Amino acid sequence: MKVLVIGQGGREHALVRALRLSASVSQVHVLPGSDAMAREAVRHVADWRDFKNVAKIAEDNGVELVVIGPDDPVAEGLADALREAGLLVFGPSRAAAQLEASKVFAKRFMTSAGVPTARFHEVDSVDATLAAAGSYRAPYVLKADGLAAGKGVFICKDLKELEGAARAVFEERIFGEAGDIALLEEFSPGYEISCLVLTNGESWEPLVLAADHKRLRDGDDGPNTGGMGTVAPYWIDLALQKRIDAEVLLPTFRRMKEMNLLYRGVLYVGLMITEQGPSVLEFNARFGDPEAQVVLPLLDGDWGLAFRDVAAGRVPRLAWKPSSAAACVILAAEGYPEAPKKGARIEGDLARDSGDSYFLHAGTALDGDSWAVNGGRVLNAIGLGRDAREAVARAYEQAALANWTGRQMRTDIGARVVASSAEAPP
Ligand code: AMP
Ligand code: GLY
Repeated sequence: MKVLVIGQGGREHALVRALRLSASVSQVHVLPGSDAMAREAVRHVADWRDFKNVAKIAEDNGVELVVIGPDDPVAEGLADALREAGLLVFGPSRAAAQLEASKVFAKRFMTSAGVPTARFHEVDSVDATLAAAGSYRAPYVLKADGLAAGKGVFICKDLKELEGAARAVFEERIFGEAGDIALLEEFSPGYEISCLVLTNGESWEPLVLAADHKRLRDGDDGPNTGGMGTVAPYWIDLALQKRIDAEVLLPTFRRMKEMNLLYRGVLYVGLMITEQGPSVLEFNARFGDPEAQVVLPLLDGDWGLAFRDVAAGRVPRLAWKPSSAAACVILAAEGYPEAPKKGARIEGDLARDSGDSYFLHAGTALDGDSWAVNGGRVLNAIGLGRDAREAVARAYEQAALANWTGRQMRTDIGARVVASSAEAPP
C-alpha cells in the first residue's frame, strides 16, 4: 500500500519513519514534507490548503491511505474533502476537530459529557475577565479560544499579569480572531500526562502514555513551548488507569457518538493528575509533537495496518514491545519560542543512525550541502532502550552530535520518569 503523510515537522518525520518500517507499506509520500524527508519518501512540494490538488496527487500516485499530521489541516476540513474524493483518511472531520480548534467548544463538550475539567468562565473583554476573576484565586489561567500555535495559554501569578494577558488577547489582538473569546480557568496543580488513543469516534484503543516537558528550561522553568522533550511509556497504577477510562474516555466517546462527530484518527487527551484524580486540560485532534516521536517506535506491529483500520472505521487492538522505552530530546533554535532565529549552519553528522538512536528533522533545510536551522524546534534526538534510563541516555548521546550557534536544549528530559516508579510497569 502507498501512504501519503501530510505535514512537515518532527511528528511527520516520525510518521514517515514508522510507515517506512511497516511491512504493509510499499511507498511513503509526503506533502509538503521537508528536505530531510525527501530522502526517505516521495516528496510533493504543494499547499495542503488546495484540497483538490492534494486529492489529485494522491490519486495520480496510487495512494490508498492519507495520514494527516498537524492540527490546521483537520481543523480546516482536509480529512472531509479527501474522504469525499474516495480516499481512506486517518484524521478527524472538521466538525470533530473543533475539540482542539476551539477551546470553548471543547469545554462545553466536556461539561455536557460530564468529563472532569477545571472550572471556567467564557470571557470576551478585559473587563469581563477581571470581573470573572473575582471567583478564582491566583494563579489565573487565561486561554485564547482558537488555534494559537501552542502559545494561547497564559498562567498569571496575579491580577496585574492577568490584566496584561487579557489586554494582549482582546485589545492588542495578538492571536487575531483566535482571541475573540477566551477561557478563564481554575489552575489545576498536579502532574501532566499525554494520553493518546486511536478511535473511530465510538470505541478506542490506548497508546502507551507519554510524559512531555512543556517549559523551555530545566526544572520546568521558563515559557511554555510546543514541547521540549518526551519519554514513553509512562506507567501509572491500575487504579488511575481505571479512573481515566471510566471518568474521561468512556464519557468522551459516549458524547462524541451522541453528537455524531465523525472521528477517525488519534485523540490526544492532555491530562492533569490532581489530588482529586484526572482532569482534562485539553483535547488535540492529532498526535502530539513530540509525543509521536516516542510512542510510534514502541508498537509491536505495523502502523500502516493500524492507520488503515482506523481510517476504515475499525479500531485495532495493539501490542507494545516488551521492555522498551523511547526518549526524545528537542534541539531548538536560538530565540525559541518567542522569535526563533533561522539560518544558522548546523554542525555534525545528522545522518548517524544506529537503529536505537537517530535524528528526526523538525525545522531544518538544506543550504547547499549542509543543514541549516529553519524553524523553532530544529532537531529531535531520539533514543530507544530497554528502559527510560537507557533511552534517555541514548537520546542525549545523539543530541551531542549536532550543534549550532544558540542551540537550546533541556538537560533534564525524563529525569522525573527515571527517578520515579513511572518507568516500571506497576
Ligand atoms: P493547553 O494548551 O490547554 O494544554 O495548556 C498548555 C499548558 O498550560 C498545559 O500543558 C499545562 O501545562 C498548562 N495549563 C493549562 N491549563 C491549566 C490549568 N487549568 N491548570 C494548570 N496548568 C494548566
Ligand atoms: N506536545 C504537545 C502537543 O503536541 O500539543
